[in-house]
Amino acid sequence: MRSALILAALAAMVAGNPLPQELDWAAIDEALADPIPTTTDSSIPTAPADALVTYDPVAEIAAVQKEISTDPISAPSPTATAAPEEKRSFLVKSLAKRDACQPEVDSFPKGPVVHSPGDDDASFLAYQPFHDAALGAVTPPGYTKSYTDLNKTSNAYGYMGWVAMASYDPLACSKLCDNNVGCASFNIHFERTPVVAPGAGCENPESTTLIKCNLWGGPVNFENAVNTGETRTNFVVVHTGSNGYVSKTIEPALGYTEPLYLEDAAINAPLNCDGTDSYMGVKIFNSGAPFDARLCAAACNSQNDYNTKQALKTKTVPRLCRFFNTYILLKNGVSVGQYCALYTHCWDESFATNKLQYRGSDRYTKVFSYAFANATDTGVHPVCPAA
Ligand SMILES: *[C@@H]1O[C@H](CO)[C@@H](O)[C@H](O)[C@H]1NC(C)=O
Ligand SMILES: *[C@@H]1O[C@H](CO)[C@@H](O)[C@H](O)[C@H]1NC(C)=O
Repeated sequence: MRSALILAALAAMVAGNPLPQELDWAAIDEALADPIPTTTDSSIPTAPADALVTYDPVAEIAAVQKEISTDPISAPSPTATAAPEEKRSFLVKSLAKRDACQPEVDSFPKGPVVHSPGDDDASFLAYQPFHDAALGAVTPPGYTKSYTDLNKTSNAYGYMGWVAMASYDPLACSKLCDNNVGCASFNIHFERTPVVAPGAGCENPESTTLIKCNLWGGPVNFENAVNTGETRTNFVVVHTGSNGYVSKTIEPALGYTEPLYLEDAAINAPLNCDGTDSYMGVKIFNSGAPFDARLCAAACNSQNDYNTKQALKTKTVPRLCRFFNTYILLKNGVSVGQYCALYTHCWDESFATNKLQYRGSDRYTKVFSYAFANATDTGVHPVCPAA
């Protein structure tokens, strides 16, 4: 498989059009078969305190270690010979579905209510103070702004819930993000929401306004600001004054160099000059948990434990993971999962050249790409034979 790809790459190079390193399609197909769970506006938590989703990195890392010890990474990915592994699922708290005409958001703080010129979506979207709040907001320290005053909210990677706020306050929202482990970004907006659950007998209830601070385990950006609202029976849910902010820092991984940010590009590692390949394979995480480079570090370390044990048995030198590149892989703009590509030695940012790949008409891109190297041993690039 891999040699076929190399031949294809060589052929393309001869044609003057070098192909980037292929994505690992077998691993991607496996991830796509069991996509990340999603939520909608009508997923209303029972009480404000239930609205946030908590992430436990210790448990998630332990699950990765256990998985690799029984199902190690190989390159290329085996084509579904092993029994399909049980899918780990990041637990999103169960969200209540209210009976028609029952109050939904009584216990939540509310924003300014818009009932004029009408109690409708057009009046809500046209209400100038919402736009003024969004346009006048100050970017909180430690964050960069990804968009301002949209009528759309993000559907980003790693759903972490939302909090209803008493005022449009990005600084307060950023503090909620800072204090919720795994949070990488947030979206703050005004939402037109029904006072009771729409349904038979109350098809189009009166509206109220929630100021929502939505937390995410991956970046919010213009591309994933796709949620324009929904119609619940005859009630139109819309959003406006929507601003997105992304944290400038991610969690470091113990024993690895500081995260090297590669933006929307993946490492495109060539073969070593002696013909050997530093690529060790890929692990894709798509349980719905936040983006976390420490999951890749756990995969890299556990793979090393496995390979070291095997090498002792066969009295050979183990292939060790010393470098990984992790990013959120997107198919047509929708998150497939957190991709971790493992390597035996480091590659610097000049090799971060792989941004876009098509498979058929499907467009695969990356965001939030970071590289990490073992802090004490970055591995050996084989010495090239003298030309
Ligand atoms: C949001 O909706 C309002 C009212 O329809 C419109 O004036 C404004 O241009 C919209 N904003 C964006 C960014 O599309
Ligand atoms: C880094 O490499 C050293 C030397 O091979 C190894 O002992 C150590 O466990 C590695 N660190 C991590 C975090 O894998």
